[in-house]
Amino acid sequence: MSDKKIVASFVDVGVSYGGGVDALSHVSLDVYEGDFLGVIGPNGAGKTTLLNVLLGLTQPSSGKVSLFEAPITPKGLRRVGYVPQKTATAEANSPFTVYETVLMGRAPRAGPLHRLGHEDHDKAEETLRLLGIHDLMKRKIGELSGGQSQRVLIAKALAGEPDLLVLDEPTSGVDSPSRIEIYRILSELNRDRGITMILSTHDIGVVKRLTNRAAFLHGTLQFQGPTSELNDQVLSKMYDYPIEVTEDCQVCDYPLEHLTHHDHT
Ligand SMILES: Nc1ncnc2c1ncn2[C@@H]1O[C@H](COP(=O)(O)OP(=O)(O)OP(=O)(O)O)[C@@H](O)[C@H]1O
Ligand SMILES: [Mg+2]
Repeated sequence: MSDKKIVASFVDVGVSYGGGVDALSHVSLDVYEGDFLGVIGPNGAGKTTLLNVLLGLTQPSSGKVSLFEAPITPKGLRRVGYVPQKTATAEANSPFTVYETVLMGRAPRAGPLHRLGHEDHDKAEETLRLLGIHDLMKRKIGELSGGQSQRVLIAKALAGEPDLLVLDEPTSGVDSPSRIEIYRILSELNRDRGITMILSTHDIGVVKRLTNRAAFLHGTLQFQGPTSELNDQVLSKMYDYPIEVTEDCQVCDYPLEHLTHHDHT
């Protein structure tokens, strides 16, 4: 752990929106290279706000945020793939095809003056295959189902070969088999390619099974640590609601056993 690079760091971060909404206060959190961090917390807890701060989309009112051990810059952000929360996406009326959309995911990595070439097209195709949406490549984004378009957004984020992938509830509205498949892919990318993942979700079962670190937000960071410490007792206290992950978790009935629960520490 000690010589691992810090991919993202929040030091005493606060975010106040107008109208006196304190979305986040005193959040301090380090994400290490290779981590799969699950961020959980109730609606309005500040999960999206935390991710947006890291992506440079929301300015913190206090504290300090770093990305790849440097201030947040466009150069650093080119190494980050982002799958926004569904409600926030403007893709619904997009005139572009699936292929064009995923290809656009190459642009941040390539840089502003780069013309997309063979390598970019190859990578876009490879990513479409990886997400199982190759047969949709000529379709318009606006004509896809919710679950299909979520896969496209994930493919677009992955096409840029990010070092860090930030996913904000990426599988809401996605059917169960597809959800399992998406998490299988994410888990393998984390394990085999070492892509650091930050995943915001309400699916505690996914966090328990896939991630090595967890954070519970509710305005402040109420828990952070190895996911193994996130037991039912801790979860019940956090949510102020009795939680039994083995019985209540939505993915427990599905064959996720093949997903390795790994610990980088
Ligand atoms: N642009 C904004 N302006 C004002 N308040 C905002 C803004 N965005 C979020 N908020 C408020 O900040 C708080 C945190 O919102 P945020 O979207 O970060 O929560 P969340 O944990 O992602 O919730 P959910 O699980 O519903 O996605 C909420 O009280 C929300 O109403
Ligand atoms: Mg959110």
